[in-house]
Amino acid sequence: MSTRETWFEDNRANWDDRAALHEASGYGIEELVTDPAHLSPEVAQDRDRIGDLTGLDVIHLQCHLGIDTVSLSRLGTRRVVGVDLSPESLRRARPIADRAGADIEYVEANVYDARAAVGGSFDFVYTSLGVLCWLPDVAEWAGVIASLLRPGGRFLIRDDHPMLMTIGEDVSDGLRIEQPYFERHEPLTWDEVGSYVETPQDAPEFTHGVNHQWSHSIGEILTAVLGAGLVLDSFEETPYSAWTPWPDLMVREGERHRLREDPDRLAMQFVLTAHRPG
Ligand SMILES: C[S@@+](CC[C@H](N)C(=O)[O-])C[C@H]1O[C@@H](n2cnc3c(N)ncnc32)[C@H](O)[C@@H]1O
Repeated sequence: MSTRETWFEDNRANWDDRAALHEASGYGIEELVTDPAHLSPEVAQDRDRIGDLTGLDVIHLQCHLGIDTVSLSRLGTRRVVGVDLSPESLRRARPIADRAGADIEYVEANVYDARAAVGGSFDFVYTSLGVLCWLPDVAEWAGVIASLLRPGGRFLIRDDHPMLMTIGEDVSDGLRIEQPYFERHEPLTWDEVGSYVETPQDAPEFTHGVNHQWSHSIGEILTAVLGAGLVLDSFEETPYSAWTPWPDLMVREGERHRLREDPDRLAMQFVLTAHRPG
């Protein structure tokens, strides 16, 4: 197995464990299943950017348990495909979609193999929150996005900002830049059980703590998107996060979190929209 395949194997095993933990933690599943009009906070937040999906073919990359995938299917789509590396995520995503009354095609594949794994082209490619950090090469990723889009098709990514990812875990002495900002071939390798959700009391066993992550700078992301032949439509940075990397330093505002003091110091997410020229 090549080094790159070993990285993906570790990440697959890590995400299989996270899938079980996330489902046990709630993860917005019951809201989605019990209310046919419910949209995930991510899709609701970007409703205007996503625009009209009536009759369109949509692909959601790195869909995990499919909460955003089901939400997208509620916007009038014709076809919705969810792609993920983790079979355990998709094994859990399928009954969630059934219970929510959504018709989703789930495909187990690495993002880098998505073009070969999924038939057809798409009017809209979507991916969000906690995605680019699992991918070693942002230029190659952008090429996959372009290859999935029909001429005129649109793309949206909302993700954690790479500056957020540079800050070390110990903030007792303030926010300190400790991790790389620019893309490196070698990943940052972590070995820790658990995930970004609160661990429920009857949490399933978590055995695969080893995982590998990469940073990609804003310049590298924009260059990759433009280099793949896409046209940039909008790009925004925001001081709000969907999660609380440092609970003691943050406050909640509705579904979002920001630094309590001087939130303008740090961008926490970015959202980018682009399209393939017609
Ligand atoms: C944080 S989730 C993102 C989804 C969504 N924001 C959520 O929380 O439901 C990250 C997902 O990326 C998937 N993933 C990681 N590396 C991948 C790869 N190389 N190809 C496809 N999926 C990958 C994981 O299995 C996981 O389901």
